[in-house]
Amino acid sequence: MLDPHANPSGELRAVRQPLSHDSAGKHVRGTALYVDDVPQPAGTLHVAVGGSPVACGRIVRLDLEPVRTAPGVVCVATAADIPGHNEISPVGAGDDPLLAEGRVAFHGQPLFIAVAATRDQARRAVRLARVEIAAEPPVVTVEAARAAGMRLDPDFDILRGDAASALAAAPHRLAATLAIGGQEHFYLEGQVAFAAPQEDGDIYVLSSTQHPSEVQKAVADVLGLPINAVVCEVRRMGGAFGGKESQAAQWAALAALAARLTGRPCKLRLDRDDDMVMTGKRHDFLVDWELGFADDGTILAASFDFHARCGHSRDLSNAVVDRTVFHADNAYFVPDIAIRSKRWRTNTVSNTAFRGFGGPQGMLAIEHAIDQVAHRLGIDPLDVRKRNLYGPGRDVTPYGMTVFDNIAPDVVEAVETLSDYRARRAAVDDFNAANSFLRKGIAITPVKFGISFTTTFLNQAGALVHVYTDGSVHLNHGGTEMGQGLFVKVAQVVADEFGIDLDRVKITATSTAKVPNTAPTAASSGTDLNAMAARIAAAQIRERLAEFAAATYGGQSSNVRFRDNRVIVGNHSVGFGDLARQAFLARISLSATGYYRTPRIGWNRATAEGRPFFYFAYGAACSEVTVDTVTGEFRLDRVDIVHDVGRSINPAIDIGQIEGGFVQGMGWLTMEELVFDREGRLRTHAPSTYKIPTASDIPATFNVHLFDGANREAAIYASKAVGEPPLMLATSVHSAIFDAIASLAPHDVMVPLQAPATPEAILRAIAAVTGDGWT
Ligand code: MTE
Ligand code: MOS
Repeated sequence: MLDPHANPSGELRAVRQPLSHDSAGKHVRGTALYVDDVPQPAGTLHVAVGGSPVACGRIVRLDLEPVRTAPGVVCVATAADIPGHNEISPVGAGDDPLLAEGRVAFHGQPLFIAVAATRDQARRAVRLARVEIAAEPPVVTVEAARAAGMRLDPDFDILRGDAASALAAAPHRLAATLAIGGQEHFYLEGQVAFAAPQEDGDIYVLSSTQHPSEVQKAVADVLGLPINAVVCEVRRMGGAFGGKESQAAQWAALAALAARLTGRPCKLRLDRDDDMVMTGKRHDFLVDWELGFADDGTILAASFDFHARCGHSRDLSNAVVDRTVFHADNAYFVPDIAIRSKRWRTNTVSNTAFRGFGGPQGMLAIEHAIDQVAHRLGIDPLDVRKRNLYGPGRDVTPYGMTVFDNIAPDVVEAVETLSDYRARRAAVDDFNAANSFLRKGIAITPVKFGISFTTTFLNQAGALVHVYTDGSVHLNHGGTEMGQGLFVKVAQVVADEFGIDLDRVKITATSTAKVPNTAPTAASSGTDLNAMAARIAAAQIRERLAEFAAATYGGQSSNVRFRDNRVIVGNHSVGFGDLARQAFLARISLSATGYYRTPRIGWNRATAEGRPFFYFAYGAACSEVTVDTVTGEFRLDRVDIVHDVGRSINPAIDIGQIEGGFVQGMGWLTMEELVFDREGRLRTHAPSTYKIPTASDIPATFNVHLFDGANREAAIYASKAVGEPPLMLATSVHSAIFDAIASLAPHDVMVPLQAPATPEAILRAIAAVTGDGWT
């Protein structure tokens, strides 16, 4: 068995280097090909989607005659035209029709498609449909779903000790409800797919998806084909963030349906507004929380009731809300704790994966509760946090997993020093004493994020490596590239396995025909899984080459070294390409597959037993803000981050992920606000009404440091996953805003700051604590 921490040549040349993203130059020059950039074959048709005008009701009549006769239209299709199953649920729940049939369950739900010569014609045509729906009052909010008892699935709770009694016995108690908003993915490349009919009814699909195997299966199901009749390929995505984990399948399946019905290549690229209306988002929550604590801020007991808006169908909601439950402790030990979760069905689009996958909402709840505790006691929130971190003798999570690799105290300590927290805390206090309109706040919050899919079977990966007779290498694996730098990291690992330069390794598009039955690229585990699979594949070829070299030039195969594009055997040094050619002539196979599955994990949800995570990734951030109490606006003055990526495979990529994740998290918690009206219509479906962070929102001082330490588990080259955890560092921004508002509030008054902390939410919280009469 290959040791994931050890290196064959004893020397790493590509791994650990801050190399740029393999597509960076192409991104900047505009030559990186996305689905819509690939030259389309002559005769390609374009698909537009017709959505439901209401959020809930029975379809009475769908008169598509005006659509059919509109200029350029070649084909119109409804659920009745689907040759296979009208069903694309990612979890086999049977509640996600490709096209609505009989009833509609959310505003904008796809009802039919129009296929036309141009995209413009298709989009104009769908508007001509005469849709008659017997509308019923929709259930839009979590409160309404609770009142109506609309549970999507059974509750899932993790309980340790006796939270109720411990809360009752605690010297202090605080309780409130926190509203946590959702988030639109706002990937720059929207949902898009291209499908082309092949021989014998087979279909080729080019998709912007994190999960090519699922797209392949969805297309096969919808068309009534075996899976082997469909090939799905993905070169890259222009961002995904979880939004293309399950929810890319629908658009690929609709493009494939159009291709099947017309016999021509078809492309579907959603308009931005349609994309925002028709695809799911981060789950929003209402959280009823209660903490019991001692005079010094030690948390004695906690109770959390997480109420998630899941939307009209299951999609990935069960796994997402499970991860909320798993992260309600964040980095803190709470002896008696009850974490309950309820999954509410609403007449809104089905919420889905989004960077952190429910974890951020769980963490925000406890961090917000701790802010309230610190304010009540008049203790620095950092001291309350430090007192409650996991530590020796207090290192078992509510779900029974030992936090065996706990470095949370060290990471927090590192940020405290890096940010000069104590001095700046004093300066913030001085500033606030001297200013009434502007208030400053500062906060440090930690992150502890569990790495692995909690759905255990997904923790597997495959790879395919070929060496050609000139020594150039073709690398393929099941992971997909969405900008996160997975491809370059895996290529670095393969280059070092062969001791060759990185540019000799060709990074190729993900294809279900090369590596089958893959997991989505998600849960931040892309590198952990695929780099191991690729290394295992490459190592087999290296072994064969070493044996051949030893047999040819003398010596022991274990002494053969691969470095600097050469192979050293005893006194001989042969070029890697020369050796590959000689091996080929000697009939040695130069191709191998690799397969990897994460060891030591296994979580049984039914019995709530086992180990859901291979390891934890840690981090901590310090944010300082200035809040304008008149307008409710804030400025992020400075951010200091220490984040744990184990021993980095590529520090440049990792720091990019940390910066990007942080800014995306800040957007979620401070400016991105989704508004559904009473009829269940999303009113914020364009950048004009939905504000994401821009370059000017990046803090003027933004220090990002990698924590120096190895992964204690056997992950690839002792690195750790980095994709999602940094998003949760942005909790420090919410806490810093809380801190600024708390400076206006008496200690016996709670600060009702909700998320996102938009200017309106900030003004509401200020009004509540100062009694200014604002609401
Ligand atoms: N970074 C970029 N640039 N674009 C993305 O879409 N998605 C995030 C994260 N970083 C994303 C990203 C999410 S949700 C996940 S799960 C991981 O990347 C997936 O990739 P990885 O497993 O290779 O880290
Ligand atoms: Mo990421 S939310 O696991 O795609």
